[in-house]
Amino acid sequence: MRLTALKLKNFRSYENITLTPPEGITVIAGENGAGKTNLLEAVHLCCLGRSHRTNTDADMIRAGADTGGVQLTVERRDGTHDTGVRLFQTQRRKKICYVNGKIAHRIGELMGHATCVIFSPEDLGLVQEGPNVRRRYLDMLLSQLQPAYFFALQQYTTALRQRNALLKQPDSAEVQSQLDIWDEQLAQTAAPLVRLRAQMSERLSGMAATHYAAISGRPEETLRIRYVTQLGDPEPAEQALRLLRERRRDDFRRLSTGVGPHRDDLSLTLSGVSMQAYASQGQARTAALSMKLAAFDLLTAEQGEPPLLLLDDVLSELDPARRRRLIDRIRGAQALLTCTDVSDLNGASPQCVLQVANGAVSERTTAAL
Ligand SMILES: Nc1ncnc2c1ncn2[C@@H]1O[C@H](COP(=O)(O)OP(=O)(O)O)[C@@H](O)[C@H]1O
Ligand SMILES: [Mg+2]
Repeated sequence: MRLTALKLKNFRSYENITLTPPEGITVIAGENGAGKTNLLEAVHLCCLGRSHRTNTDADMIRAGADTGGVQLTVERRDGTHDTGVRLFQTQRRKKICYVNGKIAHRIGELMGHATCVIFSPEDLGLVQEGPNVRRRYLDMLLSQLQPAYFFALQQYTTALRQRNALLKQPDSAEVQSQLDIWDEQLAQTAAPLVRLRAQMSERLSGMAATHYAAISGRPEETLRIRYVTQLGDPEPAEQALRLLRERRRDDFRRLSTGVGPHRDDLSLTLSGVSMQAYASQGQARTAALSMKLAAFDLLTAEQGEPPLLLLDDVLSELDPARRRRLIDRIRGAQALLTCTDVSDLNGASPQCVLQVANGAVSERTTAAL
């Protein structure tokens, strides 16, 4: 798909700008704090209805403004798609999502119109941090792949919140019978999440392994991704219901629900050895990059066209050979790529270089590169 227009109004450091990037690679250059990531965040917000780096929507509104918004237009094989999000400073108003000029009453309706994969230095957390980082990776990807996944996730999260609230109440026959109901609900909504995550993790594993071998240049090292859940066999809903009932007493003690997709994880192994425990910094970085490239492959395969690529400060982290392999892999897609130092671009041959400074974006000639 091709991003043809991105509009920001009172968004982060920008008062009012419109970008119309060309096909291929657009470089966004500027000093630290110039506002490069803000532009990628705006695209992410239009694709997923939320920021990739904050849970507080109001942070994205330009300081001093009551409301801020972003809008983007993509050309896809089936035509033009327009999405937008408007944010409000006051907590009394929820954000408003727009799809093709109309208000979308649920965030899930926004998803799947414009899709993206974002790469950033924090991706290292996919290997080095806790399970919640890997669950978010899956959730962001699968929500874009199938909006139904996002709706199921919302239902599950609501049921989980209700059950956890009950676990904090004094035990009684009434609480127990309400828990029976929420256990059923939780088990039913858990099942599609577990199934899709397990199925897609299997495909991601193969794709990520290919990238890992190519980027590391060490085909003898095999990356494997596996979805780890207690709800695999025989059938996730049945298994979930059984475990929720069995462990209710434990859950009461800890005041929260100990089993379900909100506790699941991805295991990452390199030639059979746990990466979470033993990977070097370089191996972890290559694995994280491979997982993001696999997400890109999966979206491309399922949607029949590549998603938008957002590459935030990733080139400077890679040695020249890895940089070249990454650039080769993403050719054919449209990418917004940020950097502080344009010398990192060696070999990227961008179509367009934008310079960001003082809340303004100007076009630079590419002849100097
Ligand atoms: N809500 C906001 N209102 C105004 N300026 C903001 C807001 N949020 C962030 N900024 C400014 O944006 C800049 C950081 O932008 P960012 O895109 O992260 O920089 P970088 O170019 O390093 O990626 C900082 O100067 C910060 O003050
Ligand atoms: Mg940045």
